[in-house]
Amino acid sequence: MVDINEYKKDFKMYCEKAAAFLKEEKNDDAVKFYKKAKTSLENLIKFDENKYNHPVYEQKKKEIEKKIEELESKKKKVANKEGGGGGDDDEDAKLKEQLSGTLVTEMPNVSWDDVAGLENAKRALKEAVILPIQYPQLFEGKRQPWKGILLYGPPGTGKSYLAKAAATETKGRFFSVSAANIVSKFMGESERLIKALFELARKNKPAVIFIDEIDSVLSARSEGENEATRRLKTEFLIQMQGVGKDDKGILVLGATNIPWGLDPAVRRRFQKKIYISLPEANARKLMVKLNLGDTYNDLTDEQFTILGNLTEGYSGSDIYNLTQDAIYGPLRKCQRATHFKKLDATHIVPCSPSDPGAFRMKINDIPNPESLVAPVVTFEDFILSLQKMKPTVSKKDLERQEQFTQEFGSEG
Ligand SMILES: Nc1ncnc2c1ncn2[C@@H]1O[C@H](COP(=O)(O)OP(=O)(O)OP(=O)(O)O)[C@@H](O)[C@H]1O
Ligand SMILES: [Mg+2]
Repeated sequence: MVDINEYKKDFKMYCEKAAAFLKEEKNDDAVKFYKKAKTSLENLIKFDENKYNHPVYEQKKKEIEKKIEELESKKKKVANKEGGGGGDDDEDAKLKEQLSGTLVTEMPNVSWDDVAGLENAKRALKEAVILPIQYPQLFEGKRQPWKGILLYGPPGTGKSYLAKAAATETKGRFFSVSAANIVSKFMGESERLIKALFELARKNKPAVIFIDEIDSVLSARSEGENEATRRLKTEFLIQMQGVGKDDKGILVLGATNIPWGLDPAVRRRFQKKIYISLPEANARKLMVKLNLGDTYNDLTDEQFTILGNLTEGYSGSDIYNLTQDAIYGPLRKCQRATHFKKLDATHIVPCSPSDPGAFRMKINDIPNPESLVAPVVTFEDFILSLQKMKPTVSKKDLERQEQFTQEFGSEG
């Protein structure tokens, strides 16, 4: 025998709880309890044999359904606004207009997996950028998200690239500016731009402001520095400090390859400094693979490993250039070739004169050019490119980076 009084009690209790959550603006929880209340009503309709009570239940059920619907549509509206490039209302548009030419609007398409190595840096960035946006509830009380992160290290090690991965994942909440463009603006203008930038981010909280090559805006103060530059720095410091404003939920991400050139006051504002060092052998191997992508090649895993070992001292961008050069190897082979052979009925490839079926011909003499196929990229192509393409980061630069790390940073 079902005790309908239990259902009645439950119904009352669920409604009270829902109302309490509503008061605290915890709408999701309120919806949860209204749904439970609705189930209790449905059970009453099912089991209460006194049919005279049913119209009352039905009426209450309708009321509760309406409440659930209202709360859910409110949530959807908020979500749409948040997802749509961070609320494109009039004021946003105005700020964006002011920032035009400095705000990088092109949306990158770089995933975390495209970035080889740098595991610590990736973890730190995810913790600082992604978690607070996706799970704001995890950052309450003493556990506050980071406010400033500086990525530094030698040129071409993936600082800007990492930021792109973060931007790809956070879409409308990532405001990326090029520092050089801010500086090149007229006197007084750049100061206003910084203000507009922070305002835009605050309106779209939680948000990330990324300033690439931050040293060009916020270098150490010098004697001959002009008034405009000084005011720009001051404004930046004020904004980053968030004086008198609620700056919770704003992360300033900076990148530089001369961290020692930063103004000490600015440097201090970056609570976390992550050293993006030259890649290790394993990461270099992975980079060669990533850069080669699906380009037709015959490299074995061992050969990739050897290339990883041979590229000691190369930066990520050096390896990118190296791979690009190697990818052109087959084209050079076509241009230099003195002999070709048939690949199948309609295609020919360059080959060595001793290959069976080789016939003497130069690239310009090929009767129908569309029959030419580029040979695969080989290990030798890489070895030839390695002889030409040397690492670009100097030992002296590395020493300075490491010295800075010992003083201020943490390893990425
Ligand atoms: N860790 C990496 N994984 C994959 N590719 C990388 C990595 N590091 C660098 N690259 C390649 O090198 C290119 C240049 O890297 P990036 O622009 O991020 O360097 P950077 O550290 O910002 O240098 P700079 O200090 O000169 O601005 C990238 O576009 C990418 O192709
Ligand atoms: Mg860069």
